[in-house]
Amino acid sequence: MADFDSGVTMLKPAANNPATRPSLTETLIASVNAKTAEANALLKDTSLEFGNNAVTFANSFGAEDMVLTDIIIKNKLAIEIFSLDTGRLPPETYDLMSKTEKHYNTKLNVYFPQADKIGFYVKTNGINAFYERIDLRKSCCHIRKVEPLQRALKGKKAWITGMRAAQATTRTSLPVREFDESNQLEKFNPLSNWSEQEVWAYIRLHEVPYNKLHDQFYPSIGCAPCTRAVAMGEDIRAGRWWWEDPNNKECGLHVKK
Ligand code: ADX
Ligand code: SF4
Repeated sequence: MADFDSGVTMLKPAANNPATRPSLTETLIASVNAKTAEANALLKDTSLEFGNNAVTFANSFGAEDMVLTDIIIKNKLAIEIFSLDTGRLPPETYDLMSKTEKHYNTKLNVYFPQADKIGFYVKTNGINAFYERIDLRKSCCHIRKVEPLQRALKGKKAWITGMRAAQATTRTSLPVREFDESNQLEKFNPLSNWSEQEVWAYIRLHEVPYNKLHDQFYPSIGCAPCTRAVAMGEDIRAGRWWWEDPNNKECGLHVKK
């Protein structure tokens, strides 16, 4: 088996990532303000359409999700926010979780995997078995993310994600609203048409807290062992499960039935 672990640790993070500091031109500010108003209106309409306690937002603490967190909290929208702690997140994500609680004076709503399921998986397959075979990778994602997501969505009528169409080949035709067949509820992707630049312009303009790994060329952040930095010009999600085929790199949270 290839030595994937050494591949992670050998990468030296660069100090300044220009992608997280776009130049705030008038055009960029105008487009981000217009899209913010649209996203805000969509979220407000969604909360009104489905009512209290029926809409929930999945916050991974990635840059896009911090934009949505900021919009939801600052506009006091009747939308719950939850996160899935897989138990394998990078320390920088836990730092941001703590910072977010302080910044917004809020308490996080976190779902964890079932301990007995993790115990069985690790004992049977090994702690890092996801590097060995795709079925072992998918079953780890199922235990650590998909099953907790199902619990988080129980009783809800709609959920919200921070996905963007430009993020991946698997997301190019991502609609703003769709029916999630797998989980049997409405799903909204309010930032679907946002560019990476617009996400970062929002973060800079509104001084939103963000994961420090983004500055070190980690555009997309998941679990620590399955995320690495990308090289300049590399695809945004090239650092996620980098040993797998880019055309089916999804962890199961967003797989269509
Ligand atoms: S993944 O499927 O590859 O892991 P990605 O990291 O791009 O997804 O995130 C896409 C969206 O899925 C996020 O904007 C967020 O809504 C949701 N999501 C992903 N990971 C989590 C998590 N750990 N907790 C809550 N939501 C998550
Ligand atoms: Fe497991 Fe990696 Fe999936 Fe996290 S991203 S749940 S560590 S396989």
